[in-house]
Amino acid sequence: MKAAKPRLVSGDTPTGRLHLGHWVGSVENRVKLQDEYDCYFIIANMHAFTTRSDKPDDIRQSVIDIATDYLAAGIDPKRSTMFIQSEIPAIADLTFFFSMLIPYPRLMRNPTIKDEIRDKGLGENYPFGFLLYPVGQVADILSFRAEIVPVGEDQVPHLEMTREVARRFNQLYCGVDSHTEDKDYVKKGGLFPVVDVKLGRTKRLVGIGAPSPDGTLLKMSKSLNNAIYLSDDADAIASKVKAMYTDPKRLKATDPGTVENNPLWIFHETFNPDQAWVAEAEQLYREGKIGDMDCKKRLIDVLVDLIGPIQKRRQEFEKDPGQVLALLREGTEKANVVAEETLRLAKKAMKQDYF
Ligand code: TRP
Repeated sequence: MKAAKPRLVSGDTPTGRLHLGHWVGSVENRVKLQDEYDCYFIIANMHAFTTRSDKPDDIRQSVIDIATDYLAAGIDPKRSTMFIQSEIPAIADLTFFFSMLIPYPRLMRNPTIKDEIRDKGLGENYPFGFLLYPVGQVADILSFRAEIVPVGEDQVPHLEMTREVARRFNQLYCGVDSHTEDKDYVKKGGLFPVVDVKLGRTKRLVGIGAPSPDGTLLKMSKSLNNAIYLSDDADAIASKVKAMYTDPKRLKATDPGTVENNPLWIFHETFNPDQAWVAEAEQLYREGKIGDMDCKKRLIDVLVDLIGPIQKRRQEFEKDPGQVLALLREGTEKANVVAEETLRLAKKAMKQDYF
């Protein structure tokens, strides 16, 4: 008999379409890991409500957009399960129980929460549910008793909380000794594996725009309007790359250029399969022997090679939104079977299995 594959969970908050930052941070890894793991990809629509509760139409559209992006990017619904968070009641149930295992001050020290409050300008006006969402994310992951979670670096604090809750639950309710090594919790009778994080090959992809006044390049994000999307066609990619920020001090091709902290070269280093050319061209750029436009044209080709097939597949799926919804529905049914089983086992461990 074939042993069951270990489970993997990852996902996205539907606040727009997927871009290259999502691709190198996590989606690329998810596509690759589909054979090795039993994969569950969550579209976290409840989390979208933490900052956009006044925009239900946008959230609905984005759920469909992200599912379409997944399919176009190579998430294969025959092998992997994609589903909608709010249709899995066990996640909400477990969120409540797990929230008892996380001290409130611990939550407030979560650096991602702090960064988001700052970057999104939330001030004092974020809803209570905003603070609850990392606990919800813990439940997203533990509902599937996942062993691995491929995410970008910004998600690491949430994963650390997930690991803490898994240990705590296993100790409190499954009688596992607190000196147990993370990898041994399930072997020792725990319900939840202590998950591993799989980071993308680029920690934090920069956007295509100018840096902030202090000189740091901003990360690629929809709200900063500096993203190249997996749904961009060749023309959109070309015009974005042509307008992309490079070295502002370099006015002509014979001026020496700076490679460091220059999005043009960051993108070549990240996406160009011909790294020998990149190394050579960087040298020429430093010496003022190659023009920005030549390097940008090369980058356009590289990105069109990467995104073109995704974008074309996406157009096919766009013609049939009913099919995308049907796949989401099937995935959600499959996800519910696992999450319901986890909830049942968790309640049993907590002695709340009455009937
Ligand atoms: N918070 C993640 C993001 O914004 C999305 C997400 C929700 C997620 N639930 C998850 C990622 C569970 C990994 C696992 O990108």
